[in-house]
This record gives sequence, C-alpha cells and structure tokens, in this order.
Amino acid sequence: MSTTPLDGFDRQQLIAAADLYGTPCYVYDEAKLVAAWQAFNADWQDQPHQVCYAVKANPSLAILQIFARLGAGFDIVSGGELQRVLAAGGDPAKVVFSGVGKRTDEIRLALASGIGCFNVESEPELMRISRIAVEENCVAPVSLRVNPDVDARTHPYISTGLKSNKFGVPHQDALQLYRLAARLPGVRIVGIDCHIGSQLTEIAPFVDALDRVLHLVDALQSEGIVLHHIDIGGGLGICYRDETPPDISDYLTALRTRLAGRPLKILLEPGRALVGNAGVLLTRVEYLKPGEEKSFAIVDAAMNDLMRPALYDAWHEVASLSPPGNQQRVWEIVGPVCETGDFLAHDRELALNEGDLLVIASTGAYGMSMSSNYNTRPRAAEVMLRDSGPVLVRSRETVEDLIKPEHLLTF
Ligand code: LLP
Repeated sequence: MSTTPLDGFDRQQLIAAADLYGTPCYVYDEAKLVAAWQAFNADWQDQPHQVCYAVKANPSLAILQIFARLGAGFDIVSGGELQRVLAAGGDPAKVVFSGVGKRTDEIRLALASGIGCFNVESEPELMRISRIAVEENCVAPVSLRVNPDVDARTHPYISTGLKSNKFGVPHQDALQLYRLAARLPGVRIVGIDCHIGSQLTEIAPFVDALDRVLHLVDALQSEGIVLHHIDIGGGLGICYRDETPPDISDYLTALRTRLAGRPLKILLEPGRALVGNAGVLLTRVEYLKPGEEKSFAIVDAAMNDLMRPALYDAWHEVASLSPPGNQQRVWEIVGPVCETGDFLAHDRELALNEGDLLVIASTGAYGMSMSSNYNTRPRAAEVMLRDSGPVLVRSRETVEDLIKPEHLLTF
C-alpha cells in the first residue's frame, strides 16, 4: 500500500493545534472523515443500504455531528451512546442497538427515542425487550445477532464471531429463537445481524459470515418470517503499518454481489475504517533518558490516553514534527505512568531533543474512546482540523473535573 497513515495530514496545522491547545491532544481531520464516509457510500448502485457508524470507535460529538449531517445511521452499545447520538443531531430511526448486556433503563430509553432496531443477543434479552415494550405499550423492532462461527483471523481480543465468544445467538439456535420472537407480543422482527470481529484484513471471512446468515434468511422465509434488512456488522481493518486491508470499494462489491437480486436492505456498522486513519495523537517529549540497553523518550501522553499498545501490543506509526534533534537513536516511546506496560511504541529510530513534538498515527479509532484517568491524568483535548483551521471540540479535562463527583467523608 503506497499511502502511509500520516499521508494527507498538514504538518503546519498539527503544529498549530499543539501550540494552541497543548499536548497530549487528539487531532481529527474533517476532510478525511468525510472522504471515508463517501467511500462507504459509493458503489452501491441500486442496492438499498444504510451505514451505521459504530459510535464506540470514537464518540466525539463533533465526529457524530459530521456523520449525522451526511445522513449516517449509528450502531450504539449503551444508553450513553444513544444520548450522544441524539445530542449530535443523529436520527434515532437510523440507530441500531448492539451489545450483550442491555439494561432495562437503556431499553426503555431506546424505545422512547424510537430507535430503528435492537440487535438482540440472547433469549433472555428478547424476553426482556418484549416485556418492556408491552409495558410501554409500544412495539420494539428487533433483529437477532447470529454468531456465524467463522474465524475472523484477527487479534483474539477483538474476534467475536466464534462459538467460543460471548456474542450473539448460536447459528443452530437462531431459527428457534426467531420462531419465538414471531410469537411474542411487543416485538416486530425486522432483520438479522452479525459481527465477526474487528481489524479484519481479508474479505473472505465477511463473505463466509454473510453466506451463513443468508442461509438462515432463506430458512426463515420458507417459514413465512420475512426480513427487511441484513446487518453485516463492522470490522473492516485499516493500515497501521504494512497491513493491506481490502479497499472499501472491493469489500462493498463483494457484499453487494452476494446480495444481488434480494429485496433486503444491507446495514453496515463500520467504526475503525471510518475514523481510524482520520485521527492522530500529538505528544511532547518531556525527557530523554538514553541507556545502555534501552533508551527512553518519556512523553506527555501515556497508556491512559492510548491503551492499544499496552492492551493489544498494537503498532502505531510515530514521527517527529520538530526539526531533527541531536540525539539520534532507537527509542522506547513511553509515558509517565508507573507501569512497565506504559509504552506507546517500541524501538523507533528518531533524532530527538527534549520538547520535540511527536505525532502518533492511526489513533482516530479506539484512542480517546478507551482513554482513562489512571494516575489522575486528565484526559486529552480534542481538536478538529477544518478548512478554516484547528477547532477545539473537547477541552482538556482538569483535575477539578476529575474530583468533582467525589465526596469527602465526615470525621
Ligand atoms: N459492531 C459491533 C457489534 C461491534 O462490536 C464493533 C466493534 C463494531 C461494529 C465496529 O467494529 P470496527 O469497524 O471498528 O472494527 N478496541 C479494539 C476494537 C474493539 C472492537 C469492538 N467492537 C481496538 O482498539 O482494536
């Protein structure tokens, strides 16, 4: 692949964002977000479709707003994500609600908001939704998330479509659960859904999963249970280093070809492929600590800001935005958190000085959304690069924000 994760980012704009809003700071590029959205919405020809952005990848209101204005639907996994979608002007009728543990209050909120579909992951969840909808005197649109038992060939922590995973209804139980859903009050069957994992770099597992789900669609049809949509989930990978994920258009063509001639609307739930390479994390070098075995560049971002390296041993490109520094060596890029697992990158050859500005690429997805306050570190600022220049879309947290919900004991 000829493009690198940093291609298309304007260095001067990144430097300006760091100067204006400080570091650590996540920066997103509006034009890249729009381009990724357009790629997912091209090439459909007459096939009815709805792209539902997976909010968990990056729930920034500004990002949700950009997609909502482009007509996006949203895949949510909590009442909190639904409230974000509504706050950003998203259309609740285009929301699908996934997740294995939907709480009663979340189901009530989703019903009251008029979401498009509950992606039901178990029989007890189906029963709960039915009961609540009857109580609320409404009808819940439902789809069953089927676990197709295909190997997504990705990191085990983000593989979800195997029998051994907690997700969805086992393929062999799906028919029976649909029959139950067809009899239950308060629910209306509208679709079927699956999601087999994340950061997939091949098309074959998607097509295998789709084939298995289509097999069920046919079996249901023969019993008079007619579906309106098929949701193939998210999971399309991006290039972090040297991966060669399929082009969005090849992926879409493979899906569309499989669906040709069927009167089914296709739903997709991409997260990473929409936002991953549209965001970077900016951080400054606090100290350089050259050593005999390892040399450490201690930066002001840490595992609490970007968990992916510590959690999945993920590789993110690191580059300097400062003029070449005096100390050229192979560096461990680490944060100030008191754990050896607090690293952002291993073994990077860079010429550094104290105070240099570094950019950590491909962090638009599962960066800020998985950040925490570990070590009482306020979370980073977030900035959107627009035609007009950098715009602050989330202020850096303060320690006051962090301790505000706490209560001192009385003695
Ligand atoms: N739909 C469902 C039901 C999901 O569980 C997910 C992601 C998606 C859609 C979006 O998948 P994507 O297109 O982003 O691959 N924290 C991990 C990734 C976890 C993905 C969880 N589910 C990481 O940093 O790699």
